[in-house]
Amino acid sequence: MSTLIEFKNIKKSYGEKVVMENFDLQVDRGEFVTIIGSSGCGKTTALKMVNGLIHPDQGDILIDGENIREKDQTQLRRNIGYAIQGSVLFPHMTVEQNISYVPDLLNGRNRAKTKEAVSKWMKIVGLDEELKERYPAELSGGQQQRVGIARALAASPEILLMDEPFGAVDEITRPHLLWSGWLRKREGPAACRRRS
Ligand SMILES: Nc1ncnc2c1ncn2[C@@H]1O[C@H](COP(=O)(O)OP(=O)(O)OP(=O)(O)O)[C@@H](O)[C@H]1O
Ligand SMILES: [Mg+2]
Repeated sequence: MSTLIEFKNIKKSYGEKVVMENFDLQVDRGEFVTIIGSSGCGKTTALKMVNGLIHPDQGDILIDGENIREKDQTQLRRNIGYAIQGSVLFPHMTVEQNISYVPDLLNGRNRAKTKEAVSKWMKIVGLDEELKERYPAELSGGQQQRVGIARALAASPEILLMDEPFGAVDEITRPHLLWSGWLRKREGPAACRRRS
């Protein structure tokens, strides 16, 4: 397997507080990595470094061997799905418009392809088709969270960053969403490696 994401000797501080130091991590293509740690230890910070929302004070992040500092940031983010902690949806857009946002940019005028992608991912995350026309404020917390995951998945990104995306999804449906929904489609649980 080839290396897709590489953190090299990363250091990050906020004022006096050092959040990451001497941090190295390699993630191979097709690999599923979980970062586990106490609140405030730097998990979100590490994730946001991959799509350039936060920059390290020292060290480099490479994607496919290329330093992300040298990449076009918009292009970089189009290839990276990001399910944000707490699921932040566009409040003025319907469920369908929220999920279509990135596919629309990628598919251009091919609306049928985008519609197909929206339906497919809504089904996978367990959202009823009839919710398409609703606005985020008209959904439950768990439903909003699923829309956030569907939005991240719908662009079929090469890299998917998920920041505690299952917080508002209940224990019964969470395993269904995680395993039968997406991971099984890719590599299957056997291929997953967890790190802490
Ligand atoms: N913009 C900022 N300015 C100052 N301190 C910050 C900033 N962003 C994060 N921090 C601090 O850096 C530390 C790491 O934050 P981060 O959000 O990465 O933690 P986390 O591991 O994701 O925590 P949680 O599990 O609570 O989501 C925390 O102590 C946080 O208060
Ligand atoms: Mg966090």
